[in-house]
Amino acid sequence: MKKNKISKNWINKHRRDIYVRKSKIEGYRSRAIYKLKEIDQKFKIILNGINIIDLGSAPGSWSQYLSEKSKNSKILSIDLKEVTKIDNVHHLIGNFMEEKNQSIMINFFGNKIDLVVSDMAVNTTGNKNLDAISTGELSMSAMDFSIKNLNKNGCFLSKLFMGSTFNEIVEKAKKNFKEVKIFKPPSSRKDSKENFIICKKIR
Ligand SMILES: C[S@@+](CC[C@H](N)C(=O)[O-])C[C@H]1O[C@@H](n2cnc3c(N)ncnc32)[C@H](O)[C@@H]1O
Repeated sequence: MKKNKISKNWINKHRRDIYVRKSKIEGYRSRAIYKLKEIDQKFKIILNGINIIDLGSAPGSWSQYLSEKSKNSKILSIDLKEVTKIDNVHHLIGNFMEEKNQSIMINFFGNKIDLVVSDMAVNTTGNKNLDAISTGELSMSAMDFSIKNLNKNGCFLSKLFMGSTFNEIVEKAKKNFKEVKIFKPPSSRKDSKENFIICKKIR
């Protein structure tokens, strides 16, 4: 199929999508909000008064939900892109993979973090296998960062694509966390290779 035909199909599908329409009505910046909401409803990861990092946060729907749901919490988000201000969320523009940005994030809290959520994904190339590998690398680094910087009872949530790095990431999670679950929220598109990994309690 030609590239512009693929994008027309995507735009038509996007317009018909109930989650896109719902997010517009409810004032969220992206349909991605419903994935975090469904994960939280099932796994109860967002508590009050905790330290939270939102990785790959633009345009900001996960941060909007974190800010609403988690009162009196300290929330820091990072993305390569700018994010329009959200109440009680401090945004850092930069690459999460750079050590200097990771140091800024750690220093921002001054103590350990309770929840790291990552929806980071690279710009799609059209090659689903390659995209899964690149996004897998982001997820692996986010997990490494979480293992070092989470509280003992902390939680790490990350987007994960089915692909060659999937098993490696799940294995690593099981070695380092006591509870590991894989979940595809109902609002995640059926034709997407996307899944989420929820890891609780550092070993
Ligand atoms: C699917 S979007 C996130 C949507 C967001 N959770 C929301 O609810 O609005 C993925 C984001 O990951 C970001 N991203 C990709 N690589 C990154 C990196 N190395 N550092 C920081 N952000 C990154 C992209 O810029 C993009 O905005």
